This record gives sequence, structure tokens and C-alpha cells, in this order.
Amino acid sequence: MAIEFVEFYIKLVTAILFVVLVAAWSIFSRERKGRLPPGPFPLPIIGNLHMLGKLPHRALAALSMKYGPLMSIRLGSTLTLVVSSPEMATEFLKTRDQIFASRAPSAATKHLTYNMSDVIFSPYGPYWRQMRRLCVSQLLNPKRLDYFRFIREEEVSAMIQVIVNSDDSRPLNISQTVSSLATAIICRMAFSRKYSDQDLRDFSSMVKESFLLFGTFNIADYIPYLHWMDLQGLNRRLRNNHKAQDYFLEKVIDEHVAHNDPNVPKDLVDVLLAEAADKDAEFQLSRDNIKAVLFDMLLGGADTAPAIIEWAMSEALRNPPVMKKLQDELERVVGLGRMVCESDLPRLVYLQAVVKETLRLHPPGPLLLPHISIETCNVLGYKIPSGTRLLVNVWAIGRNPKSWGEDAESFKPERFMEAGFLDAKVENFEWIPFGAGRRGCPGQQMAMIVVEFAVAQLLHCFNWRLPDDMDEQKLDMSEKNHGITVSRAHELFAVPTPRLPVL
Ligand code: HEM
Repeated sequence: MAIEFVEFYIKLVTAILFVVLVAAWSIFSRERKGRLPPGPFPLPIIGNLHMLGKLPHRALAALSMKYGPLMSIRLGSTLTLVVSSPEMATEFLKTRDQIFASRAPSAATKHLTYNMSDVIFSPYGPYWRQMRRLCVSQLLNPKRLDYFRFIREEEVSAMIQVIVNSDDSRPLNISQTVSSLATAIICRMAFSRKYSDQDLRDFSSMVKESFLLFGTFNIADYIPYLHWMDLQGLNRRLRNNHKAQDYFLEKVIDEHVAHNDPNVPKDLVDVLLAEAADKDAEFQLSRDNIKAVLFDMLLGGADTAPAIIEWAMSEALRNPPVMKKLQDELERVVGLGRMVCESDLPRLVYLQAVVKETLRLHPPGPLLLPHISIETCNVLGYKIPSGTRLLVNVWAIGRNPKSWGEDAESFKPERFMEAGFLDAKVENFEWIPFGAGRRGCPGQQMAMIVVEFAVAQLLHCFNWRLPDDMDEQKLDMSEKNHGITVSRAHELFAVPTPRLPVL
């Protein structure tokens, strides 16, 4: 009986694969007759997935050298446009912004974002608009950011204290230290809650696993009949991650309900709970909706900002003249008699240039998050069907010699020191590590403050050297892809020695 059952399914799967194969081939051959932008020839079933390698932004940048700045590829059977120049980014993120302002559903986004009821993966429409507005008004706008300044100052000081108390004969794990910092800040700002170091490390792993699952090609997304077989073991990982995430978010909400004090300033959780209780609200929010939005804040804040701090520290460590300029500026503006305050940041212009240059060369979301079109449209003579995915290769755009000169690959913060330079680059879609248009990152301002402040304080309070007096040029700068984000492949270690007499 069991053998018959297995045989039946093998035949069924073979038949399905055959049908899909034939259908896919007929679609591919029709489309290759010129209605779509050029691109590499796709294989049946997998499309061009085999060409993406371990670092898709690099593989796609190389392919765009051959096929041009607007390229069509297939991810599985899904038609995907890849944009690799500022002109094309303008075309899609400005001129056609509204058409490409939605997100694609997948098993991962459904599982981990409570059926896409968050902000990041929510389809374009009034619900997304309302939730995004709530996050901005309660957490991410300049006034709220200013209100939460004390949290960032406390957490950055706490990080410095941990480093002072650490065993100074051993290299410090900078990656882990700044990851805990970013997670601690976002948890206190969004949930008003302070967590233990172990908890913060667990949240950070949960976020990393989520990004990995969002970005992993899941066969079941393209051949739903195969979902039950869980060929890649992804369903199990999705279930486990969802369970951990749900447990944590339930606790956050329960604590807020239990300690609801109208005299204490409201945080994002309180505001979402009030919105859920409001019978006249435009959207009747469920508990799942609240959890989805809260998890977004962790997703946005806990992984990307530390990735940039790590890269900025790496660039400073391997470029002694850059390190010296940064520390000279800190000494001039802040002085060696005290630590950095957030209010010093606007006067630390070289530091700002270092962070912008880091974002240019090491954008944590090198392909942004996939956008999807909501209607058929004509772009530059091509007919692009509704449901087409869009990847914008900001990594390639940030290294384009036409925009950045022959030394585009070099780390040169000085290029951002010229007044008005950044504005022009943003205006022309040449510097877009936070995306642009309707789906652009609402956390940009917060991210810039956290990154600049952390880097400033680390470099002001300590002198740093690489472990075992490693030659700067030998510092490994390779990248690791975490699905839709990219960070250093290896954790960054360096030895701190106190620089300020007050420490
Ligand atoms: C260096 C740090 C950060 C970088 C590089 C970054 C980058 C990005 C990128 C590339 C996108 C997608 C844009 C697109 O699809 O066109 C995005 C979206 C988003 N980011 Fe950030 N981000 C950072 C920090 C943050 C922080 C701190 C938060 C909030 C706490 C945040 C919240 C969001 C949200 C909610 C979205 C989704 C927007 C939407 O789909 O409407 N991000 N971010």
C-alpha cells in the first residue's frame, strides 16, 4: 500500500513537472521574441536561478555588463526586471513608482509577517499606507527621534562601558557588540523594554534567520503542489522561526496590556493597541496585525544599521589615514575631555562622509527589497506584465564609474565633503542605499543617527588595532548574503585601548 502511494506521488510529480516544463518553455520562447528587455536565456523550472551564485548582486552586476542596465531574468518562472543604472532606477522608482510599489507574496512573507500585514511586505494600498504612517508618526519622525535621544545616549554609553570592562588583552568582537547595541536601541524605542544580552543576541539571530528565509528561493512558491514535500526543509524553519517570533511579540503585547499607564508616554505598541480598540478606525487591527508591524521594527533596525557600523569600522581599520582624520575631527570638535553627545553629530562632517561612503560601497540591501508591478505597463517600448518583480541593483549603481569616476571602487569619503554633492547624487538616483519613492526606507534618519553616533563614540573613546598586529591590507572584506541583506562574511575583531582620560 505504502509503495503504491509513493509510486502514485512520484508519477504525479513527474506529470506536474512535465506540464510546468512545457508551459514554461512556451512562455519563454514567446517572450524572447523582443517584447521584454534583453537577458540571459532561462532554463525551464529554475529560470536563471543557477546564474545568481552566492552573491546575487555581484552576479547580476556582471550580467548587466552584457545585457545592459535594464535586463529581464527568470527567478523560477517569475519574470524579474533587474535595473543597474541611475537612469533606469529613476524610470522605475520615480516615473513608474506607483506601478512598482507593491511586494510579492511568498511562503516566507506569509509565515513571518502574519500574512503580509506588516509594512515591509504589505501589498501597496490603503492598509500599507496607514501602517507606515503610524510607524513614522510614533517612532521614526524627527520629533519622536529627538524624544528618544536619551535612549540612544544611554545605550551607546552602556556599550562603551562593556568594552572598558572587557578583557583588554583579547580582541573585541565588534560585530556582536554593535548588533546588541542596535537591537537594544530599537527594542527600547519601539517596545519600551530593556532586554538581557542573551535575549538581544537571540533576537538578532531570529532577524537574520528571517532575512535568510525571505530571500531563499523556495520551490514551493513556484510549484505549490510540492509544498507538502518540504523538499528544502524550509517549512520547518519557517514554522520554528515564526514560533520564536510569536512568543516574543505576544510577551511584548501582554506586558503593555498589563502595565497600561495613561500617564507614561505612549510607545508604538500602545498606539497600535489603541488603534485596535478603536471601533471607528479605518482598519480594524487584529493582534496579528500589531505583531506584524512590531516585528518590522526589529527587522528594519536590528540588522542593517549594525552591518553599516561594522563596514565603517572595517574601512577605518584598513585605511589608517581615514582613521586618523576621523579621530582628529573628534578631538577638534568634541575634545578629549568628554565623550561624544548626539548633538555633536552635525559638526562631525568627515564622519558623516565616511558613513555615506560606506553606504555607497556596502549597501546592506544591495538589491533593495523586491518590488512587484500591480498593472501592465509600457516602459521604454517594452510591455511589462502585471506581477513582474523588480530588483534595483544599488550595489552596482554605487560602483558605476560614470557616476563615481575611475576610482569608484576605492573608499574615499572626501568625495562627500563637497557641499551639495550628496543632494545631487540622491536627486539623480546615484546614491540610493535606502531605496527611493513610495517604498523607500522610512527608517533612514534613525539609521543615520545610530550609525554615526556609534562609530563616533567607538573611535573617540578608543584607539583600535587589528588582532595580532595583522597588516591592514589583510583584513578580510568578503561579503555574506543573508537572503535579502548582505553583511561582512566574518565577524570583525579588533583590540581597543582607551583614548579618553575619563574612561
Ligand atoms: C543602515 C540602515 C538601513 C538601511 C540601509 C535600510 C535600507 C532599506 C531598504 C533598501 C529598504 C527597501 C526599499 C525599497 O524596497 O525600495 C528599506 C525598507 C524599509 N525599512 Fe529600512 N534600512 C535601514 C534601517 C531601517 C530602520 C532603522 C528602520 C526602522 C526601525 C527601517 C524600516 C524600514 C521599513 C519599515 C521598510 C519598508 C518600507 C515599505 O515597504 O514601505 N529601516 N530599508
